[in-house]
Amino acid sequence: MSKVQDITHNGLPSANPPERIPAPIEHAARIYQAYPKAQYILPADDLEVPRLLIQHGDWKTLFGNKVLFAPVTLDANDKVLEVATGPGFWIMDLAESVGPLVPMVAVDIESRLFPVCPPKNITFGIESVTNLPRDWTNSFSFVHQRLLILALQVHEWPTAVGELYRVLRPGGWVQIAETAPWVEAENPKTPCMEKLTAMYCALLRSRNLYPDCAQDIPAMLEAAGFVDIHSESRIQLIGKWAGEIGVTHRVNHVGVFRGIKTPVLDAGGFGIVTSEAEYDDLLDGLDREWDEVPGTEKEIVIVWAQKPSV
Ligand SMILES: C[S@@+](CC[C@H](N)C(=O)[O-])C[C@H]1O[C@@H](n2cnc3c(N)ncnc32)[C@H](O)[C@@H]1O
Repeated sequence: MSKVQDITHNGLPSANPPERIPAPIEHAARIYQAYPKAQYILPADDLEVPRLLIQHGDWKTLFGNKVLFAPVTLDANDKVLEVATGPGFWIMDLAESVGPLVPMVAVDIESRLFPVCPPKNITFGIESVTNLPRDWTNSFSFVHQRLLILALQVHEWPTAVGELYRVLRPGGWVQIAETAPWVEAENPKTPCMEKLTAMYCALLRSRNLYPDCAQDIPAMLEAAGFVDIHSESRIQLIGKWAGEIGVTHRVNHVGVFRGIKTPVLDAGGFGIVTSEAEYDDLLDGLDREWDEVPGTEKEIVIVWAQKPSV
């Protein structure tokens, strides 16, 4: 069990028992975003960039090398927005396929991952999807968002989808990509995965994040006013048993569990680990389990929809 610290109230009598919060577990911390009130739990450092590049490549492979699903043909009269762009791999890919004349804007709450020399037609900037600039209303022909499952709190999802709707021109299209969550499940064959997914679930709960956002995106789009809603999904098979792509999926997803180590240990380990070494041993075990025990998979989904023309 993790150590527990008492919060005292300067000796003042209190009707409630003192609040007890677990003491953080010491470890070598990575660098994270520090945007006001943001709950995003993955790092924003040099190690995260190659992980996101692997992930971008994996998604493209699974979806037949396609990055654009909405039925849009982009030219110099259009304007594209990507929110939560990270290192901008998706939007730079799109820019390469549609040419340098389409103006694009890519935003994120953290600039540390932005590319050093982006293409001239893409402007990178700091914005939160929950509060986009007022003067962007009705501006964009196409808006893209991918992988905010570990970032937006439950109440922020409808706000974010509403913002995407607001900044689109009438007739414009939105495309949102997400992943299914890890779920807690007992499995004697994969004990390390069991513990890591339990900590992942506890961390998401503690931050009021929205593990089931992927399945609810179509309903959120409809509630915001979008029409013509479509989706496509794929299953990622994880581990050596699934061939070369299974190995890259494993590397990416172990990287996610490595990335949440600091928030898990800062939260005291949720009664599952008591030291960094224990957490690291679970990561090593996860690598082995996923390669040796067939069956781990994860669904990813891309949803696109239109803002009505009138
Ligand atoms: C998992 S990364 C995905 C990056 C990119 N979309 C991709 O698929 O490669 C999530 C990104 O969302 C950003 N983010 C988190 N909360 C955000 C918010 N409220 N508004 C905009 N970006 C946010 C993070 O800083 C991070 O760069």
